[in-house]
Amino acid sequence: MVVMELKNITKIFDSPAGESVVLKDINFKIKRGEFISIVGPSGSGKSTLLNIIGVLDKPTSGEVIINGFNILCLNESEIAQMRNNLIGFIFQSFNLINRTSVQKNIEIPAIIMGMKRSLRHYRSQKLLELLGIKDKAEYKPMNLSGGQQQRVAIARALINDPTIILADEPTGNLDTKTGQEVFGLLKMLTKKYKKTIIIVTHNQEIASETDKTIFIRDGKIEKEIIN
Ligand SMILES: Nc1ncnc2c1ncn2[C@@H]1O[C@H](COP(=O)(O)OP(=O)(O)OP(=O)(O)O)[C@@H](O)[C@H]1O
Ligand SMILES: [Mg+2]
Repeated sequence: MVVMELKNITKIFDSPAGESVVLKDINFKIKRGEFISIVGPSGSGKSTLLNIIGVLDKPTSGEVIINGFNILCLNESEIAQMRNNLIGFIFQSFNLINRTSVQKNIEIPAIIMGMKRSLRHYRSQKLLELLGIKDKAEYKPMNLSGGQQQRVAIARALINDPTIILADEPTGNLDTKTGQEVFGLLKMLTKKYKKTIIIVTHNQEIASETDKTIFIRDGKIEKEIIN
């Protein structure tokens, strides 16, 4: 089943130096349960593409079809709601809030969605357990190791039970061993829970362990490889 389709996506940024075409005629389909990696040189448009897949940014032209529906027809608040329900984000720099506890950080997307307190507590406890950080629930994120902070970010991405998980260099700030562990958790999510995951990575070894790798160069899909 296709969960998302990108059709003829183009992205142009205006800059003081003039227009720059960052994505050119991007087309691909994402199937349910697929684990996809996006690789390519720095500046090739990977993050821009991930932001469009995650509906954080709109393309200049083209269509983004989710569950058969062109989401660019929706208004901003409908888009925000759909994003919060369907998509979980994991960033390279974790993006956690240090003032508040690990458990509260995990629950933020659920609070935004209006999930009942008892249900979100239940879910965050389950996720803390699944990700092996149950004893850290009351910690502030800054007192955790990088790998533990990334686990918190993964739990936060999962709290609303999204269909699609997007991760922009999720292992980029981690040492090799911790990066492998975090990657192992993502793999477990596709295998065991049939989550659709798309990661941007510079790590060839990690890319080769996903189902499919999309190579981006100068804003275009250079090739797709089934691993
Ligand atoms: N908001 C913006 N305004 C103008 N130009 C932008 C904007 N965001 C990105 N760009 C440009 O688009 C191009 C692609 O950027 P992008 O962040 O997608 O690259 P990337 O492949 O993720 O690179 P990296 O591997 O370094 O993270 C770059 O040339 C960048 O300068
Ligand atoms: Mg990037």
